Amino acid sequence: MFLRNLWYFGIPSASLKRGAMTRKIMLDEPLLIARDSDGAPFAIRDVCPHRGIPLSDGAFDGREVECCYHGWRFDRTGRCTMIPSLMADQKFNLDRVRTRQYPCREIQGNIWIYFGNDADDAVGDENPPPNIPGVGERAPGLSETMMFPSPIDHAVVGLMDPAHGPFVHQSWWWRSQRSMHEKSKKFGPSPLGFTMLRHPPSSNSGAYKLLGGAMTTEISFRLPGVRIEHIQAGRHVLCGLTAMTPITAQETEVNHVIYWTQPWLAPMKPLLRPFVRAFLRQDRDVVIKQQEGLKYESNLMLINDADMQAKWYYQLKRAWDKAQQDGGAFENPVETRELRWRS
Ligand code: FES
Ligand SMILES: [Fe+2]
Repeated sequence: MFLRNLWYFGIPSASLKRGAMTRKIMLDEPLLIARDSDGAPFAIRDVCPHRGIPLSDGAFDGREVECCYHGWRFDRTGRCTMIPSLMADQKFNLDRVRTRQYPCREIQGNIWIYFGNDADDAVGDENPPPNIPGVGERAPGLSETMMFPSPIDHAVVGLMDPAHGPFVHQSWWWRSQRSMHEKSKKFGPSPLGFTMLRHPPSSNSGAYKLLGGAMTTEISFRLPGVRIEHIQAGRHVLCGLTAMTPITAQETEVNHVIYWTQPWLAPMKPLLRPFVRAFLRQDRDVVIKQQEGLKYESNLMLINDADMQAKWYYQLKRAWDKAQQDGGAFENPVETRELRWRS
């Protein structure tokens, strides 16, 4: 149901202190995500193999998690290290007891989690989590999380849709229907997805003008649901990363993270945040309305160039799934071409 052998956005680094743990459902699986006393994050399945209690209901000492029911202890790899009820002369092989480990990686202020095949936690290293060029290891300037009550596909298609802007995001500070005009953008395949090749940004976005400097934008999308809009403004970088993580089949978490290298943007944070929130809310609200209609009609129309990215998304998913099933190589179905639409 969900694409496997891929990295998913887990949580912002800042939300997990040293020696703390948290729980989260991702891809319909319960996870305990923790940061050990050395500062390294890890994730294990949040179910005690003994009697099924969430391990996150227990205690974490910065090294091991102790189950709240009978005190079994687990290390960061999910291995059981102690069963307190065992007598000294009762032989029991602790190696037989383990809860699943999920590989974790912390990059540029976010923790990514790898979902491999069932019962296998080896990492496919050919496709690491995204690393944004030009921002170094800096933490995001701004980070927003919002739950979309919809399957991941509708969240992804909605966020990559180039034709909804003047209708859904109509506002004095962004776009209006009056400013609609013809667009033509060049696209090409890129790792696990496609990219709108680098170009000067559209002239009808008032917000862009504020940044100054000679500007170019590149927008890429990659499986399982990550969109990166990378703006180069003179020698500075402003970059938005939107990561969609399925929580269940019917709920998708959208994390929108913004990085910038312009020092003068930092004090603007409190001003910026309401705009980012409003923007995400507009996307979420339209998806909520869509879910109403889809109860009665599940067919979608994908037409012409404006919906080509959505078509590519579904093609990419199928190609990825096929490669995982057959054990063959993933063949990116996207071809370099120009797309034209009005927005
Ligand atoms: S249920 Fe966890 S130790 Fe018994
Ligand atoms: Fe949108």
